[in-house]
Amino acid sequence: MSLRHFLTLLDLSSEELHQLIGRAVELKNWQKNGRIYEPLKNRVLAMIFEKSSTRTRVSFETGMVQLGGHAMFLSARDTQIGRGEPAEDSARVLSRMVDAIMIRTFEHDKIERFSEFSTAPVINALTDQFHPCQLLADMQTWFEHRGDIRGATVTFIGDGNNMCHSYINAARQFDFTLHVAAPAGYHPDPDIVAGAADCVRLFEDPVEASRDSDLVVTDVWASMGQEEEQREREKSFAGFQVNADLMRQAGKDALFMHCLPAHRGEEVSAEVIDGPQSVVWDEAENRLHAQKALLEFLLA
Ligand code: CP
Ligand code: NVA
Repeated sequence: MSLRHFLTLLDLSSEELHQLIGRAVELKNWQKNGRIYEPLKNRVLAMIFEKSSTRTRVSFETGMVQLGGHAMFLSARDTQIGRGEPAEDSARVLSRMVDAIMIRTFEHDKIERFSEFSTAPVINALTDQFHPCQLLADMQTWFEHRGDIRGATVTFIGDGNNMCHSYINAARQFDFTLHVAAPAGYHPDPDIVAGAADCVRLFEDPVEASRDSDLVVTDVWASMGQEEEQREREKSFAGFQVNADLMRQAGKDALFMHCLPAHRGEEVSAEVIDGPQSVVWDEAENRLHAQKALLEFLLA
């Protein structure tokens, strides 16, 4: 197979994404049943982190070990990457030594430049613009709980951020309707919305956006790199909390998802995230299984 990268959900076809979700469910069952499956023996994944992580780091590292390979954690602080070595040079060097490279960084443009010069597959583990690996886990979680998401209505409440953008791409690829409710000034990138015009509707009223929804999703109000805007954002996003009142607007069987880490009392109430409609722990676990399917797809 020719070299493939996974920088956004649009790098795979809709059919490939559906197959990958099915495979993730299968690999999860194999793992639960104690079946050893090591197609990536002697293969190495380099993991570059320019931002913090719990789930992404642990799921990629565990996933590589379970597939028989090895994962190498590279923090920007301890490598030349943090001292300004150009992405183009780091890409050429690392991809001569390892089999795949996972990157969590700030500007999406940096991972694009990196991938142009990498001779190994590059995986986006979050940029300011997109978080496609999280969407693989979210889609797997939906499919496991409810079956195909085609035709469903999903509501994203909060910042028009990397998660929101990836939900917009998911709406295109998995054929669902996405309602986005964000305060003025925090709407998603109009170009990304324009690419999915048939499946996305923008709202400023979270109540209206949630009506009869099958899945309600939110994310932090201030993402990594926006810590200084926390106070200002708390004011702007007041009224955008996903709480029991808002969940009552959604369909009675609606699920709740959050990529985590969550701030109870800000973007979501404790009652919702710790309540019966929340599937956030399955969602977090599925990072492992979905990314194993992704690694197998890109490498095996
Ligand atoms: N959801 C997510 O990507 O979590 P981490 O920041 O802990 O990796
Ligand atoms: N939007 C959040 C997601 C964290 C997983 C951030 O970028 O910090």
